Parts: sequence; C-alpha cells; structure tokens
Amino acid sequence: MTASSEKDRVLIFDTTLRDGEQSPGATMTHTEKLEIAGLLDEMGVDIIEAGFPIASEGDFKAVSEIARNAQNAVICGLARASFTDIDRCWDAVRHARRPRIHTFIGTSPLHRAIPNLTMDEMADRIHETVSHARNLCDNVQWSPMDATRTEWDYLCRVVEIAIRAGATTINIPDTVGYTAPAESADLIRRLIAEVPGAGDVVFATHCHNDLGMATANALAAVAGGARQIECTINGLGERAGNTALEEVVMALKVRHDIMPWKTGVDASKIMNISRRVATVSGFPVQFNKAIVGKNAFAHESGIHQDGMLKNPENFEIMRPEDVGLTESNLVMGKHSGRAALRDKLRQLGFEVGDNHLKDLFVRYKELADRKKEVYDDDLVALVGATSEAENEHLQLVSLKVVCGTGGPAEAMLEMEVEGREASATEQGDGPVDASFKAVRAIYPNNARLQLYQVSAVTEGTDAQATVTVRLEEDGRIVTGTSADTDTVVASARAYIHALNRLIVRRAKTGPGEDRREINWKDVS
Ligand code: KIV
Ligand code: ZN
Repeated sequence: MTASSEKDRVLIFDTTLRDGEQSPGATMTHTEKLEIAGLLDEMGVDIIEAGFPIASEGDFKAVSEIARNAQNAVICGLARASFTDIDRCWDAVRHARRPRIHTFIGTSPLHRAIPNLTMDEMADRIHETVSHARNLCDNVQWSPMDATRTEWDYLCRVVEIAIRAGATTINIPDTVGYTAPAESADLIRRLIAEVPGAGDVVFATHCHNDLGMATANALAAVAGGARQIECTINGLGERAGNTALEEVVMALKVRHDIMPWKTGVDASKIMNISRRVATVSGFPVQFNKAIVGKNAFAHESGIHQDGMLKNPENFEIMRPEDVGLTESNLVMGKHSGRAALRDKLRQLGFEVGDNHLKDLFVRYKELADRKKEVYDDDLVALVGATSEAENEHLQLVSLKVVCGTGGPAEAMLEMEVEGREASATEQGDGPVDASFKAVRAIYPNNARLQLYQVSAVTEGTDAQATVTVRLEEDGRIVTGTSADTDTVVASARAYIHALNRLIVRRAKTGPGEDRREINWKDVS
C-alpha cells in the first residue's frame, strides 16, 4: 500500500520555493533554493514544489537541479494551462526519481474573464492540457485557481474533466484566503461525494491566509477528506502568506486525539528550516508566530514561570525540543577555532562552504571581542549576514557616524565598488539616513526603499540588531539583511546587501523582464 492510499496519512506538499518565493522581495538565490529543497527532502516532506520553470531561466535551472538532487520527495513544477508551459515544466522535473507536473487555470468568473474563454472553451482547454501533461508524466496535479469562488456546478464539471483527462491529484485552492473552516470541509466533502471518479484521486487543499484562517481551513479540508496539504515554511507567501507547514504538522501531532491523521515530517527539523527560510528570504518570523516565533515557548509572566517550574505541562502543550528548539546556549569562547564553529553551525542546521566559513569566522571573532556572551541566535544572525560573500560587488570598508542632539547626523563611509575604494561624507535625518545617503553618493541608484526593519537578536543592550532592507527598482524587489551589535553598521550592511542582490538581478533580467512580469492569466 502506498503512503498516499493510507487512510490516515496526509501528504505534505511544500511550496516555499514556488508560492513562498513568489512573495515580492522573497527571491532566493540558486544555491539557497537547492539548500532549502535539501532540508525539505531531509525532513520528510512528501512533495516539493520547486518552482515555475517557464517563469525564467533561473527557475528552470533551479527546478532541474532540485529534481536531480532529491532523494525521496516527489519534485513538482508549476505550469499554466498551455502546452509550452507544460513541456518546459516536464523538461525541468523529468530528472527527478519521482516527478510531478502541476498545471492550473483560474476557474472563477473573475479569473475566467482574463483569458477571455467561455466556460466551454475553458473546459476544453483543461481536457487538452491535463491530457498532454499526463502523456508526459504519470503524476499530474491539476488546480482550478480561485476554486472557492467558482460556481459549484462549474467546479464539479471541471474537476471531473481533469480526472477523466488523467489528473492524479486535484488541488482546491483558496487563492485569495476567502473561505472559512466549515465551508472548506464541506467543499471537499461534497466534491468527493458528487464528482464521478473522485475516489480515484487525492484531493489537496491550498489555502492563503488573508483572513488568518489558512491553517484552520487546511485542517478542516482534511476532515472533509483532503489528503494533501499545501503549505510553506513560516507561512511564507504573497500578501498574508500560505498555510504554515509547522502549524499543520504540529496541530496534527498535538491534537491527534481529534484529528487522527499523520504526516511523514520529522518535526524536530522545523526550527532549523524555519530559521534558514527566514534568513534567505529576508522575511523575519514575527515574534509571536505559532510554533517558530521567538516567543512561542517563552514564559515571561511571573504566574506562568512559577507554573512552568512546577510542571511544564501547566502552560506547554508541546515541548520546545519537539520542534528542534534547544536552549539558546552560550556558543563558544572567543578562543574557539574554526572547526568548533563549523560543528556548532551544523548543530544549528547550517552547512556552510569553506569560503563562507572563513568570512563567518572573522565576523564571529569580531563579535566575540565586542559582545560579552555569544548565543546560538547570534550565530544564526551572522550566517544570514554573510551568506552572499560570492556576490559582493559592493562592500562596506568602514563607517563613522556623528549623531545626537543639536544638529543633523553625519556619516563618513568607505566602500569598495567592484574592488575599488571610494568614500563619501553625507548628512542626514539621523545616522541611518546619513549612512544610506553616503552609500548612494558612492553608488548612485534609484532603488526605492520599501521596508526598513530592525529587531534585537538577543536580550541586553549589547545585543546584535538584525536589519532587513527591501528595495524596489523597475519592478525588481530585493531584500538585504545584516546583523551587528551596532545598529547603524547593520543598517548600512543590509542596504549594501540588498544593492548587491539588485546588481545580480539586473544582470539576469532587463527592466520588465523580471519573472514577476510573467502573466499568470495568459494561457495561450
Ligand atoms: O493560490 C493559488 O491558487 C495557487 C495556484 C497556482 C495553485 O498558488
Ligand atoms: Zn497559492
């Protein structure tokens, strides 16, 4: 009996690298995508949606390489309802031991209007494209995008067509996060009961979190008969994001008494991958996020602390170690060597190359000199701050800032631009503004600042600050991060990191050619 046919088994379909990465600014590099896919495979995710191969050359390469590397997981690529998309997708996933093509079309009235197809024309298109995909691959998933706002009769009709054409998984997306739990369960239950052939396929649920109900809707869909949950690490995704993998996995574990389904995910790997996705996507996890937030297991109030000491079960429904959270330990002394650093990073889930380790070691030593106590979280922040050494067209050499009451702040900044040193002194409205102006004086650019965010990594006034900077230029959105005990230095570095990413993106795509320009609606 295969896993998918076990009645109590729910397949976990992770789309961090496709729907998650589609979130503006969350773009990951090729190496980062391969690393995340490796971690997903290792933690027991059943299906990895690795990308949208037709979207760009980069997506295609990433999906192909992930397909080649995968050990256990099914590797899936996304394709619109067009032969060209499907062929390109197949070319990328065919290298996998277990490939899957996922093809979709918007079926709700609003989405049908976009390609300007009548209901009958769309039904024909679905039949042709799913049949085409099935001729290439045994494992085909089909999605009626915006299913939860599609007329019931039409939804039944197109689902039946897709099943007849050979789809093996039918995914029911709540594309705009519109549904509610009772409705979500009911929709799947009725589809399974009423669509001919429904018993021969796996039904999947794909929920967005616009009303904060994505996890509840996904679990309700499982109660209604869905046996595949589509989700992302940290709930990464456009707008309010997707169903969070860590939430559904832990909910099914902790409340197995009322939700008697299991997944194949090793929950103890959750914290590591969560940190890694936050770092590479540049989307920090909110402190009070369920399961993976910094405060998810923190008990600050006196009453709670007292109760916890008497019996952790008073206030904890799961143990931190269940999700791989170990106490943020004091790392190592400042005399520890490189091998010890590599070991510690491995324990934290980071596999770093020799060059990256060299950079990290330098930064670690600097940090250990300045900061009394260096914790695991400090190291995680450092990994994020040094992850793209290979793409450093711009590098901060030094920064001095004069600021305080009684006058504008002044930043004196030295930077290397493609190996050549340059300096600038600029005044600004505060030290960060002055530093960013100095960077722009040396490296003029029109990128618009979309987000500037600072958070403390650990407690204490000597804590490192993690800074996230998101920039937009000609439709390209990039995110830079950095960490330092000096907030202004971290800010300048994060800005420079974002600019480095922008330079790489410019080289790959001309204006308007960015993969996000791909027309989702165009199915011709
Ligand atoms: O949200 C959505 O509808 C999607 C589809 C492409 C499955 O992501
Ligand atoms: Zn989606």
